Amino acid sequence: MAYYEDDLLDKVLNANDIVDVVGSYVQLQRKGNTYFGLCPFHGEKTASFSVSQKKQMFYCFGCHKGGSAFNFLMEMENITFPEAVEKLAQQGGIDLPKREFTPEQARKKETRDNLQEIVNEAAKYYYTVLQSDEGKRGREYFEKRGLREETIKKFGLGFSTMKGGLYEHLKALGYSDDNIMKSGIVSFSEKDGFRDKFWNRVMFPIMNDRGKIIALGGRVTGDGEPKYLNSSESDIFYKRKTFYGLNFARKSRLKGKILCEGYMDVISLHQAGFDNAMAALGTAFTEEHSRMLPGFVKDLVYLCFDSDGPGRDAILRAIPLLDDVGIRAKVIDMSPHKDPDEFIKEKGADAFRERIENAENSFLFELKCKADKTDRSDPTEESEFQDYAFTEAFLRYGSDPMTLNVFVKSICQKFDIDGNLAKDKINKLSRERIPRQMVKPKEEGEVKLSKAEVKKKGISKKQTLLLHYLSEYHSLYGQVKEFITPLDFDPPTLRRAAEMLYEQLEKGEVNPQSIIREFTDPEETQIVTGIFFETLTDVENEDATEKPEEVAKGLTQLVRSIKEESISREAAQNTLSFQDKINSKKILEAISNTRFTV
Ligand code: UTP
Ligand code: MN
Repeated sequence: MAYYEDDLLDKVLNANDIVDVVGSYVQLQRKGNTYFGLCPFHGEKTASFSVSQKKQMFYCFGCHKGGSAFNFLMEMENITFPEAVEKLAQQGGIDLPKREFTPEQARKKETRDNLQEIVNEAAKYYYTVLQSDEGKRGREYFEKRGLREETIKKFGLGFSTMKGGLYEHLKALGYSDDNIMKSGIVSFSEKDGFRDKFWNRVMFPIMNDRGKIIALGGRVTGDGEPKYLNSSESDIFYKRKTFYGLNFARKSRLKGKILCEGYMDVISLHQAGFDNAMAALGTAFTEEHSRMLPGFVKDLVYLCFDSDGPGRDAILRAIPLLDDVGIRAKVIDMSPHKDPDEFIKEKGADAFRERIENAENSFLFELKCKADKTDRSDPTEESEFQDYAFTEAFLRYGSDPMTLNVFVKSICQKFDIDGNLAKDKINKLSRERIPRQMVKPKEEGEVKLSKAEVKKKGISKKQTLLLHYLSEYHSLYGQVKEFITPLDFDPPTLRRAAEMLYEQLEKGEVNPQSIIREFTDPEETQIVTGIFFETLTDVENEDATEKPEEVAKGLTQLVRSIKEESISREAAQNTLSFQDKINSKKILEAISNTRFTV
């Protein structure tokens, strides 16, 4: 964290105007309170780099780098935070006390390497057991499930016997109890001491994106609970960021990535030639998972979950998560079979390929699910459905009239709606002047995103926008806080920023600098800086800040949708009680009935 007291840092910043600091590196042009220039951090021809004198911050709308004068110098001169502080203190004539260094934590890395070795040895051990006499039952099981020898080898599958022996094996190799324990593949109790975690299971090594084994999964070969058991999370295994099969799928030359639910789905698909298959592991597909994807997915994701109710719900949760990180999704239908593994077994690879070709656009899939829940012969329900369908289409594709038109046509066709009525509705929506920020910007096709953009896209635009409004219109805080608390924000970076902003709003004084300073990771810094620059999206337009009337108009919908997202995140964790669910419903209703003012 910070090496210097906040007061001192403020003093150093106050002694230097960021416009001068940046100005000595970048040619700036003034437009109102903001200065613009060519971004020194990424090549560009039009100026999307801005410096706000009022906020004493910089931000680039192209590469999303941003922050205080400290952050600028760190980036520009490739220096550390304390070095940037020293430099500005010197320039501003401020004396600094001697600073202390934090010791380098090489030990941490050493432990991680050791854990990785242990898990790797464990996988090797189970693989060897599978190939030995003792592994006969395991081999029979895989054979029954139709796996070929080469598939077993490719995925490094193994077997744990009733006899165990992993712990002793690892001890014999010289690993410490402490690290064996930390690797998550052995358990400990006062009564029995160290014991293997896996008994009598077929074993699946879990690899990270680079193919390093980081954990193990095991499946019972008959009936038994739990069906699948995973090793515990550890310093090297974080479930919510792991995809089974990603190490192979990332190298696939096939179009898109197929996201399915289970180990066996991934393995069967690969065996059938679909080497772009992968699965979120032992847990639902989370927002953290989604944020990993832009680095690996260039085109689209095919959602191929179980064809039952829970599978469908999981798809409906995954679509907005993918959407938030700018990844297009299509839905592959497996019915009447349960999952891809069973489908392939019954129908074969060609039939599966056909299903891929017939995969459904994710938005149309969502509408179909909504339609299924609607009594379409009831005029009230039907008109609500149509209203929803076209409003959503407008919010999503309104910035691109041609695409919007195509969607409106498909919707009318698919749900048997009169095209003229649809046109009227869309015209009405355009006249209502929904705030620009609520209409999704046009997607740039299959452009490769920079790392910064990927991160930026992974952050909920809506949440950022609300925080922005709160920082700009303090009177809003009293109206919003009863509905949205910092806990409604996710990922953790935004939540922490929200906590600090709420604290400051409670005291009636907002200081963006002190919030930004709490984040030392450059990627976090830019996410948080984005909050304070959120609506300045059009750099060519001096009048780019929002008009209060427009802001107020969109707020009910904005607040409601953030709350909805937060509730469905909670629901996905299964942490909601019946009472919680009733309360959620009440809160959403209350939000819908609130007219916010700024
Ligand atoms: P499913 O129960 O849908 O099983 O779990 P499956 O993949 O079709 O398994 P098979 O075909 O019977 O072997 C889907 C995924 O959920 C996780 C696992 O990652 C599994 O692959 N899971 C399931 C667990 O972690 N624990 C369980 O007890 C069950
Ligand atoms: Mn299955």
